Amino acid sequence: MKMRNKQRKSSAFCCNAGSRCSLPVVVWSLVGCILMIHLYSVIRQNDDENIQARLKHLAITRELEEVEEESFHMPPPRGRRSPRAVKRRGPRKPPSVIDEFLDDSSELRNFFFPDRRTVIDPSREGNDSMHYYPGRQWLDTDGNPIQAHGGGLLYVESTATYYWYGENKDGETYHAHKRGAARVIVSAVSVNQVDIIGVSCYSSKDLWTWTNKGIVLPGEETNITHDLHKSNVLERPKVVYNDRTGQYVMWMHIDDVNYTKASVGVAVSNSPTGPFEYLYSQRPHGCESRDMTIFKDEDGKAYLIYSSEDNSELHVGPLTDDYLDVTGVVRRILVGQHREAPALFKYEGTYYMITSGCTGWAPNRALAHAAESIMGPWETMGNPCVGGNRIFRTTTFFSQSTFVVPIMGLPGSFIFMADRWNPAELRDSRYVWLPLSVGGAADEPLEYNFGFPLWSRVSIYWHRRWRLPVGWKGVQT
Ligand code: GAL
Repeated sequence: MKMRNKQRKSSAFCCNAGSRCSLPVVVWSLVGCILMIHLYSVIRQNDDENIQARLKHLAITRELEEVEEESFHMPPPRGRRSPRAVKRRGPRKPPSVIDEFLDDSSELRNFFFPDRRTVIDPSREGNDSMHYYPGRQWLDTDGNPIQAHGGGLLYVESTATYYWYGENKDGETYHAHKRGAARVIVSAVSVNQVDIIGVSCYSSKDLWTWTNKGIVLPGEETNITHDLHKSNVLERPKVVYNDRTGQYVMWMHIDDVNYTKASVGVAVSNSPTGPFEYLYSQRPHGCESRDMTIFKDEDGKAYLIYSSEDNSELHVGPLTDDYLDVTGVVRRILVGQHREAPALFKYEGTYYMITSGCTGWAPNRALAHAAESIMGPWETMGNPCVGGNRIFRTTTFFSQSTFVVPIMGLPGSFIFMADRWNPAELRDSRYVWLPLSVGGAADEPLEYNFGFPLWSRVSIYWHRRWRLPVGWKGVQT
């Protein structure tokens, strides 16, 4: 009897033809099946979505990474030499592209500094809306050329607004007297200067339309002993927000007209649009400091990076918790490499930096560097410039690095910000903004270590005209 019961019980789990199935089992089996199918389709859908997202990302970044070529014809050498001069000094050498770039009467002038007719004007609707044209004049929302040279951006999350701070050079350019041995290569025009007008601030929601918020740190008109007296030098201002103190802190290069003071200045404000209160200047760690930048890391620590020892090396050191001073900790990096105009960024735990050589206002070849720790050691990877032509690539597209901005929502994609200095008329210096990516294709052989590339490739792609992807999340359409 017991045996029979057992058999009957167990037969309830099988559903052979002819035997009776229990209803709950059928129902649960069906529910199970439906759940399995649902789970499968959710996973498939997620996979599909991931693949779609990846494809979309690839399509978007491919557009940014398109390689564009450039060509231009060098004008023939100007003026003939007399037969006697030819005998003595040989035939006149054709001018170099840099000579042409620095010569404001060059036939190529309009190529390097396109005139007002080609201006980027955000108030004009049409095909050019949202498009960057590196090197063209760029107007703010009042219709005036943007004055924010040697600048950097700050993103304020609470208002989803970008602020662009930079040197206002809207004054007369004059030839300052020769500076000391501070510069490694001093070209004839590199001593051109403008009085300190101040630090400008512009705001934007889309990184293309910029509203002038005015001069947030003005130069000093009368007090000749003041660091910001108009006869001095204020360059490369960078602003970071301190989460602990709730203050916006500005660091900048402070110098005299001969570049012998070689210091950093610090200013603070409770608002991103100022006014900033100038606190003081110092030689950080007791060392000369010329071109510089500030980098705020994900953990809230901020660092000062500056060219030192006659610009032959860079120094990097953390700031105090309030960002108002340096600490005693500092490292020498890229020693003997003579680099300046540092622009730092971080991607997937690796620190990257773009720098220029030291040739005053004249453009030169950029280099990309990488490090596992911001304090070094830093390794030099090579020239990141891709496209244009050889001359474009060896002159950083006729510009000099100042800042690198991450493009939100597009991991690995950044905007490289640079200045195309116009030494004859510094206020008319142009902005060269281009897409930068980490992990792109190599244009030149990389440095290899036992056959393996040490770091992901950093590439800056030349574009005559480009835009951020349509529908990019910071873009209001
Ligand atoms: C550059 C430097 C600029 C400015 C210029 C003056 O090398 O990056 O910020 O100082 O020299 O000649």
